[in-house]
Amino acid sequence: MNYQTLILNTKSIRDFKKDAVKNMDLKAIKDYANDCKKLVSSIELDIRIMSNSEVYLPLDGVAGYKGHMIDAPAYIVLLSAVAQGYIENAGFVGQELILKAKEIGVDSCWITFSDSKTVKEKLNLVSDKEVAGIIALGFDQNKGKVINGSLNPAYRLGLEEIVYLNEWGKGADNTTLEERGILDAFAFARLAPSAWNKQPWRFLIHGGSVILAVKKDEEVYSYDEKIAAGVIMLFFQAIIDSTLFSLSWTLGAPAGAVAIPDDFEVIGYCNL
Ligand SMILES: Cc1cc2nc3c(=O)[nH]c(=O)nc-3n(C[C@H](O)[C@H](O)[C@H](O)COP(=O)(O)O)c2cc1C
Repeated sequence: MNYQTLILNTKSIRDFKKDAVKNMDLKAIKDYANDCKKLVSSIELDIRIMSNSEVYLPLDGVAGYKGHMIDAPAYIVLLSAVAQGYIENAGFVGQELILKAKEIGVDSCWITFSDSKTVKEKLNLVSDKEVAGIIALGFDQNKGKVINGSLNPAYRLGLEEIVYLNEWGKGADNTTLEERGILDAFAFARLAPSAWNKQPWRFLIHGGSVILAVKKDEEVYSYDEKIAAGVIMLFFQAIIDSTLFSLSWTLGAPAGAVAIPDDFEVIGYCNL
């Protein structure tokens, strides 16, 4: 998988054509979960592909921004065993499936929800696992159309606003990141999607570690922040894996005191 190209070309699609996604393609997306990178590989996942009639009306009023469900020909419902980091893992794996879908020409969008139990009831899902992610799949109705002067209008924070060096709040400069060989990884990571495009993440480079923290937000159910954290960990890892060495994340805070403000939560760290 060419992560650089796929990350650059993937955006959230909300208006889908009525055209069905071929069963063969849906199967390829689902099966990719068996081979793809995971954040916590011991957490069991059950990936369901569901149709418009099974999902759209049942979840209207329940999932999506302010209950506004996205009308798509197919959906991925990620069911996960509950363990430390399971939502972040669902974000990580779900985004792998989104990139796989893009690779075979299928567009997508994450859909937020607040209560796994209600979603399971509405979808008649019998499972001991929890709903940890919902993703719409289909084909962009507005493909190639220029919106607000851009093909991908979603704004992103600058690198120095999300990557700090040695000390919280001290933006890292590109030259230092380049010298360390990690500029690209951050440049691609910052393109990660997040609910309401809140971009809740910050990285602190401290000694030989990169620490990821996300902003705790009263308005956003912490589920969304954890999914976003999982996605950005995938992007960072995928670029480091393809350019430098094989990288893995450890959940939780590293040993030793690192000053992080109270309104941020440390999700994990990796060693460079
Ligand atoms: C966890 C999560 C939940 C999201 N939920 C919704 C949603 O319910 N409805 C929607 O239209 N977009 C949703 N999005 C898409 C974001 O709005 C989108 O990623 C962000 O605005 C950036 O745009 P881009 O993905 O096109 O770059 C969600 C994204 C994430 C990561």
